[in-house]
Amino acid sequence: MDSDIVMVDDKGKRLDGRKADELRPMKIEAGVLPNADGSAYLEIGKNKVLAAVYGPRECHPRHLQNPTRAIVQCKYNMQSYSVGDRKRPGPDRRSQEISKIISEALEAVIQVELFPRASIDVYIEILQANAGTRCAGLTAASVALADAGIPMRDLIPSVAVGKANGHLLLDLNKEEDNYGEADLPLAIIPKTNEVVLLQMDGHMTREEFDTAMKMGVTACHEIYEMQKDALRRRYSVAAEEEQEVEE
Ligand code: CDP
Repeated sequence: MDSDIVMVDDKGKRLDGRKADELRPMKIEAGVLPNADGSAYLEIGKNKVLAAVYGPRECHPRHLQNPTRAIVQCKYNMQSYSVGDRKRPGPDRRSQEISKIISEALEAVIQVELFPRASIDVYIEILQANAGTRCAGLTAASVALADAGIPMRDLIPSVAVGKANGHLLLDLNKEEDNYGEADLPLAIIPKTNEVVLLQMDGHMTREEFDTAMKMGVTACHEIYEMQKDALRRRYSVAAEEEQEVEE
């Protein structure tokens, strides 16, 4: 999708003032929903996302049970009010696709073999959307899983890299995503840099793809630090509360 809209000025500055390799401001908070086994709230730019985790628990529907391991059932849902034009409520092809790829990415880090026949249920609610919600949802979900105490090999940070006006740009916002030439959401396991989610919309040359991957992986490590920080804050608050009860 080529566009006449100028999204990067001659100094390399983007519409929202960011540099090409700069993330939008990000905030993560773990343990925001006491009724869930684990939860996280995440903002990146204008995106607002809530993730809730239940389980491991009995798998329903039962025919999906696997006798050797747990299955991960993610439901990504975009609220009607999360976008400019009211979104028709309920599941659609896009949300089914996103739910599937997020479930598969999470299964790569959760120690599913410890919980035969069980289901680990992950709910992702998009409260406000401004491009990159699948990445924001996955980033929040892995923090919520850790908050639930589910054994995992690592967290999963995720971000998109794209192309607009011929420039490679990290973490596209809505305008860049709508009018840009390409969008490449990715997610990694930081300890090994193994890629657990990779999609591409639009076109990039092989060289651009390689550079985009490097930009994305570097940014994922930045996001990883914020995820760990959210969990550290969560557990220091929990420890303080426990101490107060004891006193
Ligand atoms: O959100 P993400 O970039 O992962 O997915 P997308 O399918 O590339 O959608 C990009 C953006 O388009 C979303 O984040 C929303 O801001 C917007 N969108 C919308 O306005 N209405 C929809 N029904 C779906 C997406």
